[in-house]
Amino acid sequence: MERKNILPSAEELKRQQGFIDLMRAENERFEAEQGRKKKMLIVTFGCQMNAHDSEKLLGMLTEMGYTKADNEEDADFIIYNTCCVRENAENKVYGNLGYLKHIKAEKPDLKIALCGCMMQQPTVLETIRKKYKHVDIVFGTFNLYKLPELMYMNIESGSPVFDIWKEHGEIVEDLPAIRKYKFKASVNIMFGCNNFCSYCIVPYVRGRERSRTPEDILKEVKALAADGVKEVTLLGQNVNSYGRGLEKEVTFAQLLRMVNEVEGIERIRFMTSHPKDLSDELIKAMAECDKVCKHIHLPVQAGNNEILRQMNRHYTKESYLETVAKIRQAMPECAITTDIMVGFPGEGDAEVADTVDVIKKARYSGAFTFIYSKRTGTPAAVMENQVSEEQAKRSFNAVLEAVNPIIYELNHEKVGKTYNVLAEDVSSSDPEFVTGRLDDNTLVHFKSDRDVIGTMVQVKITDNKTFYLIGERI
Ligand code: SAH
Ligand code: SF4
Ligand code: F3S
Repeated sequence: MERKNILPSAEELKRQQGFIDLMRAENERFEAEQGRKKKMLIVTFGCQMNAHDSEKLLGMLTEMGYTKADNEEDADFIIYNTCCVRENAENKVYGNLGYLKHIKAEKPDLKIALCGCMMQQPTVLETIRKKYKHVDIVFGTFNLYKLPELMYMNIESGSPVFDIWKEHGEIVEDLPAIRKYKFKASVNIMFGCNNFCSYCIVPYVRGRERSRTPEDILKEVKALAADGVKEVTLLGQNVNSYGRGLEKEVTFAQLLRMVNEVEGIERIRFMTSHPKDLSDELIKAMAECDKVCKHIHLPVQAGNNEILRQMNRHYTKESYLETVAKIRQAMPECAITTDIMVGFPGEGDAEVADTVDVIKKARYSGAFTFIYSKRTGTPAAVMENQVSEEQAKRSFNAVLEAVNPIIYELNHEKVGKTYNVLAEDVSSSDPEFVTGRLDDNTLVHFKSDRDVIGTMVQVKITDNKTFYLIGERI
């Protein structure tokens, strides 16, 4: 099936609401017979985009009357929201699916659904059809909102339902979503990506870039504020190109200023910024908007100009460092974090030395480092000079050796100072501690009752543990 949605957003939503009602009736019948509610498990792989999609899945499933299961064995409905950015993300899904086969053998009523980026690849679909016949429902990134309809179709037909679109339809607004945290939320501002970095699968599985209108975004942010949200994270693969192609073009900087006006919102974050599109206007807006956190995630990927060219990144080491300098000049307290990829075709020790040089000059507060993973269908996959595993590991270590001491030093400067912290959760390592974040996104653990969670508190930093800080409430 490759039908795009032809109904306008509001009508499509109403249609799905009809299926939610049918599923709820079905689940109520089950509860009356069995004396318990049906349980669901959503397992999410990949980035914040996927995590936010899972909040929408949870919203829809909750409206259908499901409650949460603790684990696979306990669930009546399992959905894997998949990622394919690197091979190991895919392998995990296949591994888990193998395991589910055994559970389903003992519990034939168990329903298994797959969605997300991995499902947008025809070879994956083929493998699932052939080898994983115990899967009941498969859909992709463009039709997430159809979950209720697909679940109902699966029950009615008694056979597997595959519904993957090759491209996006109209953006369906106002899906119910259930947030993990009451006080913070993610908001999609755009979908897809047009950049086609030569190693990356995302543009193929998430489609072309499209922005939501500022009106729709502001409506959502205001509703979130009214619901107790203090921190919003604006999500897009490249937020710096937000607004292109909208009927009334608007820049990301302008959007930030609008969100900054929303009453009740105290912190605004955003992800991710592509260095090639980071404008002076954005730096100015960040510096001037009091609610916009002084943190920018600016993936560099590599420091060598030839590698950057081969990656199709459209910036150079020099222009990247110039952007960093501008950010530092406008906002000396701004944290800059990054993504680094090692082992890209053609990258040897000499090239990695350039990456290390950028790390030392940019002074990152945090970095996610990845080993290049060949993605079939991307231009880099057919480049001739693929790098050995040994070389990639050596590069990986060189990067970590450069990154970690700088993170330590930057955090060390914070010891003895007091910061505004949004208390977020009970610490996973010690229930007497609460975990929160500084404005610049640094994690801090401090001793406190859990009733501070969701509020802003003042914390004095007492110790530096490299990847997080220890502090005390004052
Ligand atoms: N849109 C974001 C990145 C999304 S993917 C951006 O452009 O910054 C997140 C990170 O995964 C990327 O920054 C990159 O470092 C890494 N990544 C993407 N494709 C990869 C691949 N084929 N192998 C290894 N890492 C990859
Ligand atoms: Fe992938 Fe590049 Fe798009 Fe980021 S900007 S999602 S790395 S293609
Ligand atoms: Fe995100 Fe993975 Fe898809 S990184 S966009 S979930 S391929």
